[in-house]
Amino acid sequence: MQVRVVSDQPWDVKADVLVVPILGEPDLTGALAELDRRSGGEVRALAEFGELKGKRFKTTLTSAGELGARRLLLVLGGEPSNLDREAVVRMAAAAERRLAGRPVKRLAIWLAPLAAVLEGGADAVAELASRGVVEGSYDPSTIYREGYEDGPPALDELILVAPGEDAARLGKLADRGRIMGEGANLARTLSNRSANDVSPEVLAEEAWSLAEKHDLWIDVIGPDKAAELGMGLFMAVGRGSANPPRMIVMRSGRAGERDALGRHLAIVGKGVCFDSGGISIKPSDRMDEMKMDKTGACTVIAAAATVARLAPGTPLLAVAPAVENMPGPHSTRPGDVVKALNGKRVDITNTDAEGRLILADALTYAEQLGATHLVDIATLTGAVARALGDLVAGAFGTPQSFVDEVFEAGRRAGERYWQLPLVEEYADDMRDSWYGDIVNFSRNNDGGLVKSALFIRDFVTKPWVHLDIAGTAYFRKTSAFAPRGATGVSHATLVELALAGARA
Ligand code: BES
Ligand code: MN
Ligand code: ZN
Repeated sequence: MQVRVVSDQPWDVKADVLVVPILGEPDLTGALAELDRRSGGEVRALAEFGELKGKRFKTTLTSAGELGARRLLLVLGGEPSNLDREAVVRMAAAAERRLAGRPVKRLAIWLAPLAAVLEGGADAVAELASRGVVEGSYDPSTIYREGYEDGPPALDELILVAPGEDAARLGKLADRGRIMGEGANLARTLSNRSANDVSPEVLAEEAWSLAEKHDLWIDVIGPDKAAELGMGLFMAVGRGSANPPRMIVMRSGRAGERDALGRHLAIVGKGVCFDSGGISIKPSDRMDEMKMDKTGACTVIAAAATVARLAPGTPLLAVAPAVENMPGPHSTRPGDVVKALNGKRVDITNTDAEGRLILADALTYAEQLGATHLVDIATLTGAVARALGDLVAGAFGTPQSFVDEVFEAGRRAGERYWQLPLVEEYADDMRDSWYGDIVNFSRNNDGGLVKSALFIRDFVTKPWVHLDIAGTAYFRKTSAFAPRGATGVSHATLVELALAGARA
């Protein structure tokens, strides 16, 4: 798909469909009035009919009269005062999804109604709308089915209509948005693929081919080397499966190299290709969803590739511990005491609290490789999904200044996080072990969400943020702006965070 920015008026643009964003009560003065007039009064008639009231992301397809476009697609964006960056991405995605199964090759979006309201104006809207269309075109039905043609249309051209704006500048931003969207979609496909398809080895192969394609350094550590290095926690989870574990390490820039902010940033993603719970086996209800438990890893792998595309050479380390958590004759047993890469003895009281184990060794390894700032991202707890649902991810971290930096990246990305406290007193429960330094699961699981983060904190010594995406990583139901399955969430946040340190 090509993205083209034109400074023409929306009624002059030739396209299969022209998308018109509607915020609040449609204001039928100015350019929208002119558009309405040339459409033969369609917009006004629909407004009077009550069609333009309702929920955000509702779409109405109608005829275009004398307009250059062949059809109009009106997309509701809610009250103008509530418009944020996430909403722009999702409106564009909803528009593209609404056209599923339709022969649309050229899609135009009129940016002005959004640019007039959103902070950052047309620049911001060009990038976010372009990203939204790409994300909206994502269709997981094609992963395992052939000849499926009812998905969102494969566009030849996306035309961003921005009268009076600098088309060249907006074009660059729109391209940035397209690449961001493609990165999120890559993370989604890796994540959506099932566990019989994507084992730790296959995930490592995928990372390898991305590294070759985008000129990233890569190292893949198998079980023998991992054991030799002392990655006891990583191996404790990985050893239970016939599919051997892989510690995937990718890097842009040189070893230990500092970015423009003086950081050697590491992003570390949980890669549990399937989480049965291990010996502490899960109930069968929804266990199938646990193929999504590798989403953190898929996100950091895709983010590394996106950073390499947008600002090659920007220092960034991505570490993705990939395992299958399975019961079997070689599995770790509850009560096993295992030595972590950082030397601590962990009493594994519950083999289903496996994400924190592999993250602990991966974070230690990232520090050994020179990381000065660490962000881990994981589908870590069911508790975060119960607390915050599927639209807001949980965040923990220290010091606050680094949490703020990650939140600022999240704001630019249009992604939502809510910070939760590292309640010091609860750490006592995590020390309540027979003979180890720390347990991975406290018998008193009250505050289990906080305790999961407190566990990880024991394995970092540098500025660190933990993002729990167990709620946001995938949708259980299809919505106007996304199909069920992986959402690609947090990919943009990680890319923005890394690019904050890019040299101009
Ligand atoms: N992968 C799960 C968390 C999860 C649950 C992700 C539901 C997405 C949806 C994680 O490994 C896990 O099993 N967590 C346990 C932790 C408990 C044993 C402390 C949980 O959330 O119940
Ligand atoms: Mn688990
Ligand atoms: Zn898990």
